Amino acid sequence: MPTTHNLLEGTVSTRRPPHAAEDGGGGGEAADDSKTRKHVSIATRVTNYLTRAGYVWPILITAVAIMIISSLVVRSRDLVPASSFDGISRLFFPLDGVESDFGALGVPWCRSKHGKTVEWTSKDLLRALEEFVPIYETRPIKNNMNGMGFDHSFGLWFITRWLKPDLMIESGAFKGHSTWVLRQAMPDTRILSLSPRHPEKYLKKGPAYVDGNCTYFAGKDFVDFGSMDWESVLRKHGIEDPSRALVFFDDHQNELKRLKQALKAGFKHLVFEDNYDTGIGDHYSLRQICDQFYIRGGGHSCFRDSDEARIRYRRKKFWEKAVDTDELCGPGEAWWGVRGYMRDDFNHSNKAITYDEHFQNSRFVESVLNVYWELPPVAGPSLTHQTRYEPARSPSPVIKDGRFGLFQRLGLSRLEPSVFNGYTQMVYVQVSELDT
Ligand SMILES: C[S@@+](CC[C@H](N)C(=O)[O-])C[C@H]1O[C@@H](n2cnc3c(N)ncnc32)[C@H](O)[C@@H]1O
Repeated sequence: MPTTHNLLEGTVSTRRPPHAAEDGGGGGEAADDSKTRKHVSIATRVTNYLTRAGYVWPILITAVAIMIISSLVVRSRDLVPASSFDGISRLFFPLDGVESDFGALGVPWCRSKHGKTVEWTSKDLLRALEEFVPIYETRPIKNNMNGMGFDHSFGLWFITRWLKPDLMIESGAFKGHSTWVLRQAMPDTRILSLSPRHPEKYLKKGPAYVDGNCTYFAGKDFVDFGSMDWESVLRKHGIEDPSRALVFFDDHQNELKRLKQALKAGFKHLVFEDNYDTGIGDHYSLRQICDQFYIRGGGHSCFRDSDEARIRYRRKKFWEKAVDTDELCGPGEAWWGVRGYMRDDFNHSNKAITYDEHFQNSRFVESVLNVYWELPPVAGPSLTHQTRYEPARSPSPVIKDGRFGLFQRLGLSRLEPSVFNGYTQMVYVQVSELDT
């Protein structure tokens, strides 16, 4: 982690495509021996079956069994058990198969204007994870249900610390967990927090965080991000250049609306917490906007007898937030947004849009994007035991499945599995209307 990075330098590089995965290093982790126990029992079962079976079948079955067992032996070196879906289902649904399932269909993301992406690498993420786990363990709000979990807390902390903004702006504070995360990243930098309910209100019922160096536009002083007079507020806080600020949105508003408002105010560095996949969530997200026919994994099929429908159906059984074709497709086979709707404001507003409008939205977004970077999940699902988000519709995790030793060494095994269940492809974008 460099020590002198700031918003203007050292954020962008053209080296890698948005989803390029680098090996995080840190080898020498213990392999999972529980998997070995599993093949022994399978081998025993196969042998028992062969002794009971007739003459032709054993030859055929032996050949198939050898193929299955050898593939399991290879995979067992890389797998650890996951509580909710281990056992026999895991044996017939191995993780790399899981990933390639949707990999065949692809995962959508937004294209930046000149193919630029961030400068940081998986190695930087891995090093930072080691530092962040003990910080996270000191969080004041241990149970942040309906707020950020571990992955996004780490992402926000990492991005903020890397960019070193002169001002941090947060829209959507809830009990104040994300304010606390921003504070850990930048101990002395001013925060502006916009939220209809002041976090101090939550203190009456339990843990909450109220920051001493934060201006709250909350409670009776609440102003929506889009209605704020940013020029005067920034001036009041000694900020001349809005591109020196980092804006964090966790307010469940239409992200196209927020993007336009941020551009109008001259902000450049934005983080969206809930970057929902197509067909899911309570607001129109960047990922949904960029999910288009020309992106691999975009342009979904609503045909019930298609490969996509079969894959979706199968995966829905494993991942709570996976979307099957019935949920994905709305009237007239509309698949964009959520069933053809552009949701906003926690789904309190829900406007149907045509595919043409959806397409135009993506053209607009891509015309202002300098960088689009989705935070990967910190670790694979067999390590975190997460059961909600669809791993094959997410970037490859920082700690790959099977690397239990590394997961443990970084202290991640000490955390409650529930803190890993809130991942929704948090995204960092760098935007500008001018072609920079
Ligand atoms: C998911 S919570 C935020 C969680 C928080 N960032 C955390 O880390 O725990 C969403 C918050 O957005 C707030 N909210 C609702 N409408 C908003 C708006 N227009 N602007 C800003 N915040 C809003 C809600 O009151 C709620 O506190």
